[in-house]
Amino acid sequence: DDLSPHVLLVFGATGDLAARKLFPGLYRLAAAGRLPSDYAVIGSGRHSPGTDAEFRQQVAEGLRDTVDDLDESVAEDLLGRVSFQTSDADDGADLAAAVREAEDGLGDDVRRLVYLSVPPTAMAGMVAMLGREGLTERARLVIEKPFGLDLESFVELDDALHEEVDEDQVFRIDHFLGKEAVQNVFALRFANALFEPAWNRRSIAQVQIDVPETLRMEGRGSFYESTGCLRDMVSTHLFQILGTIALEDPGEWSADAVRQARHDAFTALRPLDPSDVVLGQYDGYRDEDDVDDDSDVETFVALTAYVDNDRWQDVPFHLRTGKAMAETRRTVTLRFRAPESAVFGDPDGDELVLELTDDALISVDLAGKKPGPDMELASATMQLDFGDELPDDEPLEAYERLILDVLRGDHTLFARSDETRRLWEVCQPVLDAMPDPQPYEPGSWGPQAALDLAAGGWRLG
Ligand code: BG6
Repeated sequence: DDLSPHVLLVFGATGDLAARKLFPGLYRLAAAGRLPSDYAVIGSGRHSPGTDAEFRQQVAEGLRDTVDDLDESVAEDLLGRVSFQTSDADDGADLAAAVREAEDGLGDDVRRLVYLSVPPTAMAGMVAMLGREGLTERARLVIEKPFGLDLESFVELDDALHEEVDEDQVFRIDHFLGKEAVQNVFALRFANALFEPAWNRRSIAQVQIDVPETLRMEGRGSFYESTGCLRDMVSTHLFQILGTIALEDPGEWSADAVRQARHDAFTALRPLDPSDVVLGQYDGYRDEDDVDDDSDVETFVALTAYVDNDRWQDVPFHLRTGKAMAETRRTVTLRFRAPESAVFGDPDGDELVLELTDDALISVDLAGKKPGPDMELASATMQLDFGDELPDDEPLEAYERLILDVLRGDHTLFARSDETRRLWEVCQPVLDAMPDPQPYEPGSWGPQAALDLAAGGWRLG
């Protein structure tokens, strides 16, 4: 692609996300020759990390920690384009001057990519500053989740955004949508007559979206205290997977069509009933750094959601995710009904299992005839490893893929304003009730009540 020259402005440039995902992502895009030929990166934040040289040093260390086989010449070239300028919501004059100076060196028609990796409470102030300083012109804004903390604060934030920019300048990032395996769901469904005709309540008895993580706070205690698992994982990542599974045929692969289809699925998503939700907190969470001694923040959520439309009426979507759990997985299971035939009585339903790993893994548990003299059934598994079948010549990690999409101006894998608003409406009954989390043992599958949520049990565990 021939991309126009860009200034990439990164707020939160000294933070965890920038070190773990953004700079490594930029590095890998640079290594793949996927960045514009002319670009500059300006990091910003309230506190200066020191001189530009010291900031570059910090970024370089982050790259060495996260990238295997770092190509020094690519890293040097990237670092040579990096600088830092302090700013805050009240004062962006120096930053604006730095951006204009960088642009003068980049030629004509320079675009701006503004990456806002800042807490939801700081977002509106930063965007207003960008507007005042004229930095929203020619700009695309990448907004990190959570997009607000509830319906009301989302609406406020969104109104503040729309005062400064048009919706088509806004890219609400949910990196799960950037995962190859999530995009593969579209291919699976809409390119295979084997699956599409069965993708509905007549064939499917329940859906499980299960994202356990072994990881604990890892220094993110204060982020978690202000966010919690429902906002960090469910109202964003897990619901976006649900939307991808549940949506109607978009008719074409385009931003308008796909986002409309997701929005329609979320419109049909029934607001959560707090009695269908189990919150949990792992034992030891309160001893984590920056966590309150009597914190009631949930580190685990399991719930049942329903999509009220012809395709999915009464099919439970069981969602589960949490920290300090027994395994790290991202597993979607579609549990099929047994066929109507009376030949085998009431056999177990098949399961189509999608592992949303870097190399997508798909398996189907189905019934076969047990070899031998009698007509008896046994369960067998059919497996497809995309890593083997369709090796990835140009692996793009989710963040890389999505940063590239912003540079290209492609909104397909980004949440639209109305989509996001609807997801807050769906979550609001739980946010209002917010029952106390139930304790669970680290290394387990969560509180007992959550184990009983899915009829027939969870696939994992
Ligand atoms: C992030 C959440 O968005 O996603 C983290 O803030 C979570 O809490 C992470 O661990 C999981 O992402 P991935 O790509 O590792 O599955």
